[in-house]
Amino acid sequence: MGKPKVYVTRLIPKEGLAILREAADVTMWEGNSPVPRKVLEKEIIEADGLISLITDTIDETLMEQAKNLKIVANYAVGFDNIDVKAASKKGICVTNTPDVLTNATADLTWALILATARRIVEAERFVRNGMWKAWTPTLMVGKDVQGATLGIVGLGRIGQAVAKRAKGFSMKVLYYDQKRNPEAEERLEISFHPLSELMSESDFVSIHVPLNKQTHHLIGKEEMKEMKEDAILINTSRGSVVDEEALVSALADGWIGGAGLDVFEEEPLPMNSKLLQMINVVLLPHIGSASREARKQMAVVVAENVTAALSGKTPPDTVN
Ligand code: DGY
Repeated sequence: MGKPKVYVTRLIPKEGLAILREAADVTMWEGNSPVPRKVLEKEIIEADGLISLITDTIDETLMEQAKNLKIVANYAVGFDNIDVKAASKKGICVTNTPDVLTNATADLTWALILATARRIVEAERFVRNGMWKAWTPTLMVGKDVQGATLGIVGLGRIGQAVAKRAKGFSMKVLYYDQKRNPEAEERLEISFHPLSELMSESDFVSIHVPLNKQTHHLIGKEEMKEMKEDAILINTSRGSVVDEEALVSALADGWIGGAGLDVFEEEPLPMNSKLLQMINVVLLPHIGSASREARKQMAVVVAENVTAALSGKTPPDTVN
């Protein structure tokens, strides 16, 4: 009997590929953009394991074509690109990469908090464009972070890691989640608040919920209208948790002070997006987990999940 077949939809760090190659015949899409649907449809027919990215839509139609598929291992903690219900129906295991990207994503969240508060990107452009003429008391004055109130929407691993970092800035931290977490409240010295209270009391609101039916447009017009006029919205989770059209109005009409965004309703952000014209927004290309160590560990985690499934074991990061 030959080795099982694993298809990888994009080049991942070598540490994961080495583990996979010991246990399976590995083929990979090596293009610079996401694997074309047609290629994926062909490759999935014989694959025993699939490593997917958030840019791949793994839906029922696709999985129906698979003859041998045992696992879809997503190279991400979020798995909203996969129809998990359809996978379960077909007995296909779905896994993600929790923990290993928590610190990288929390760090990036903080980079956005500081960049938006202290107008870092705007100030850097100012220098490059030769506009800096003299030190001035009123030049590029920003928002204070020290002692401000941070509202965390979604107290999972990343939300907690962001809260932990807020201690270094002596911030008051509020959180909202579907479920209260008394242990974390005590450990992190944070307090639970209903969403509307959190929105109205926070100077910074940072979003850390997964995208699903309940969280789609969780932050809409009503929620943004509740925010302070100089408050800043940070999103490193999924774009569609925020109603982007409402966010554009909020930024343009001054309902809020600014936003730091790593994720968007449509990615890559279309070049006609109004967000690109706004000065009070920092825009990043979905790089929350893009630290060397996190990306390496994500590759190891997907590989370990796949090899477990191929040897008949339950993969450690099964979500269904
Ligand atoms: C995730 O893990 O869900 C990120 O969005 C990509 O790393």
